[in-house]
Amino acid sequence: MSDNKQTMIEIDNGDEPMSNHSDNLHFETILEKRLSRRQVLSGSLTAAVAGVFGASGMVNMAEAARPGLLPPRVGKPPFALKPTLGFDAIPITRSDTATIPQGYKAQALIPWGTPITGSYPAFDSVNSNTGEEQEQQVGSHHDGMHYFPMQDDPNGHGLLCVNHEYVDQRVFHAAGATFIAGQRPTDEVRKEIAAHGVSVVEIQKNAISGEWGVVNGSYNRRVTAGTPAEIRGPVRGSELVKTKYSPDGTMARGTINNCANGYTPWGTYLTCEENWAGYFVSRVQLARAEALLDWFEDTQPGNYPIVNGIRKTSFVQGRYFARFYPETNRIIGIFDEFFDQKVTNLVYSQVGNTFNDTDRLLEGEFGVLLAQAGIAEDLSLSRPREQSRFGVATANSRYRWETAQSGEDQYIRFDATPKGADATEDYRNEPNTQGWILEIDPFDPNSTPIKRTTMGRFAHEGVVFAPPQLGQPLTFYMGDDARNEYCYKFVTKARYSKNANGDMLDEGILYAARFNDDGTGEWLALDINNPKFQAAAAAAGVEFADQADVLVNTRLAADVVGATKMDRPEWGAVHPQTREVYFALTNNSSRTDENGNNPIDAANPRGPNPYGHIIRWREQGNRSWATKFEWDIFVLSGPESDSQVLPEQGGPALTQENIHASADGLWIDQFGTMWIQTDMSGSQQASGPFGNNQMLAANPETGEIKRFLQGPWDQETTGVVSTPDGKTLFVNFQHPGDRSQPGVFTSNWPDSGAVYGHPGDDEVVPNPNGPRPRSATLVVTREDGGVVGL
Ligand code: FEO
Ligand code: CA
Ligand code: CA
Repeated sequence: MSDNKQTMIEIDNGDEPMSNHSDNLHFETILEKRLSRRQVLSGSLTAAVAGVFGASGMVNMAEAARPGLLPPRVGKPPFALKPTLGFDAIPITRSDTATIPQGYKAQALIPWGTPITGSYPAFDSVNSNTGEEQEQQVGSHHDGMHYFPMQDDPNGHGLLCVNHEYVDQRVFHAAGATFIAGQRPTDEVRKEIAAHGVSVVEIQKNAISGEWGVVNGSYNRRVTAGTPAEIRGPVRGSELVKTKYSPDGTMARGTINNCANGYTPWGTYLTCEENWAGYFVSRVQLARAEALLDWFEDTQPGNYPIVNGIRKTSFVQGRYFARFYPETNRIIGIFDEFFDQKVTNLVYSQVGNTFNDTDRLLEGEFGVLLAQAGIAEDLSLSRPREQSRFGVATANSRYRWETAQSGEDQYIRFDATPKGADATEDYRNEPNTQGWILEIDPFDPNSTPIKRTTMGRFAHEGVVFAPPQLGQPLTFYMGDDARNEYCYKFVTKARYSKNANGDMLDEGILYAARFNDDGTGEWLALDINNPKFQAAAAAAGVEFADQADVLVNTRLAADVVGATKMDRPEWGAVHPQTREVYFALTNNSSRTDENGNNPIDAANPRGPNPYGHIIRWREQGNRSWATKFEWDIFVLSGPESDSQVLPEQGGPALTQENIHASADGLWIDQFGTMWIQTDMSGSQQASGPFGNNQMLAANPETGEIKRFLQGPWDQETTGVVSTPDGKTLFVNFQHPGDRSQPGVFTSNWPDSGAVYGHPGDDEVVPNPNGPRPRSATLVVTREDGGVVGL
């Protein structure tokens, strides 16, 4: 939190509060060392770098034997996977439509509210659809997705699985969120829960028109934030996931904040539970917060007078706990995201609804403040580490689903405050059932989704496998998208075979990445049976009861082994031929220069880092299960004045053809083209040089990058996949009109009639009273029927 002002508004960008306050050392001289390596490289850079990156290797894709699923391509790919980007880069736009290159066309598919199951209730543009209807419709806020081709017509018929990250209540409900005496109307909550999760939609291309449409078939399915899921892997049955709903700790309900995605070689969909923590609340801290504010009142009675016997109104808002004094129009408040954590806790006093750093009264560890105030530290009132390290809210949950008026069990479970005699009588452990990779079998609509706990618990963003090799372990790469969190990989214990299935994901080793200053890296096992891990935990004074405890506390385990704090790892991509791994590090407002408390290092070389970068690595011996790797930076994103492609090779700055910031979505297609999608903030889009959020195409070998499309206003471009022939590209625009107020919209896409345009067309200007904006999938094809991007 480097901003001076903390305004009391809800977060609406899906980002999670920073909650890594571990003491992991930064490499203080990393940058200098790295720079000197860079200088060394500059003499013979091409040979040196080509030795690590860019070499080609053979891909051995085994055949998946799934009904309805196209077998993966076997043998040599048809191209050398050095793509020639055969389109003219589009100039920067701020049009309220998709802008795509000349020679391309597009359509919008499955916008939020599209009926796909049951009685197929039509979308109601004034938003009178009920929760029950939303359960039969496509969800909101499209994000990661995958296309599973059908054997009968793989390039014209398939299952599209789409994540729905969250809802924007100002657009989602006709008049925004409703509160009645502090409670949410039950059907509003039901509808919001139903708009989260995943849609499985059978889609087909019309042979005559070429337009894609929904097939009203039996594969269609909604998985929501309320769908039962089975817990598998080491956490199954653990004390940490026992709840009133599942006293034996084997079942959970729902999947939350599904951001990026993955899939498996055996034809299942993987969805990532990202910013789930804020959906829960545990109010154990409030008693201590009350006591602390009482102390302020007692010690500063002039500022906080008792008037007519009523001296205050206590309230919680967002992440604050505060009291308002009507007589003096003053507030004192505690910025609660820091409760129970290691660094700064801030106590503010301020007039109005903004806490300003200059009004800070006290700071320090919460425990220190309590001691200063003479309040005994009651450990029974502390949040457990499996909540505090992830930022589970202490005042109010994000949408306050737990306040649904009906008081039904399916809603009150979002309140994790201990209430019963033990964990089987309440929902203190409900947050532990989120933060996992969830596997869904799209070809079996009656299957129970499975939480694969072996793959760790964090703000999962992206899960991408290295090309499978028969007889070898299978490796998945994953990011934890919060400031100063880590990159991970999971290596299966079982060897990959033609008969592989999801059981493979229940045993294996989870690793966190350390990026050394000299361009090498190490994978650090988070395994309670590993002597190095045991020694690291002992040295850190951290105890884990068993591997379930390690996995529920994945971030803490990664702290312990000394993983490298990264600038918000989002999506990863693996080159299908070279097996090189690319990861988007979207930005980091809390990264500091080398003298700050969160200093830059070689892998995160700019502080603060408002523009982000893309890092890449190659595993030792090109074996995805290796524990050592070499890395470099593919691009430092930003404007012309602060950007560079392949900096270690002395590459060029970005230009008007490709400036961008906050890379997020990443995918390397079957032709070797890397697609880069951006998630710039509203202000960065409005006032920065980059225009609207966009998607670029890159040649990973040469570093060539071209802007391929830009989206409508106030959306993020996220989620990309193509048909096997590469001739149909699916791209999601999430939350167009993100800065709307109820009934006053900052985008009208896609229902304005202007689904797409070309460079040079008249700019489409949003009409505040026009159609309600909806997240949707853009389907992009070439007029001449060729491969998109080449
Ligand atoms: Fe949901 Fe990290 O973006
Ligand atoms: Ca994202
Ligand atoms: Ca993002």
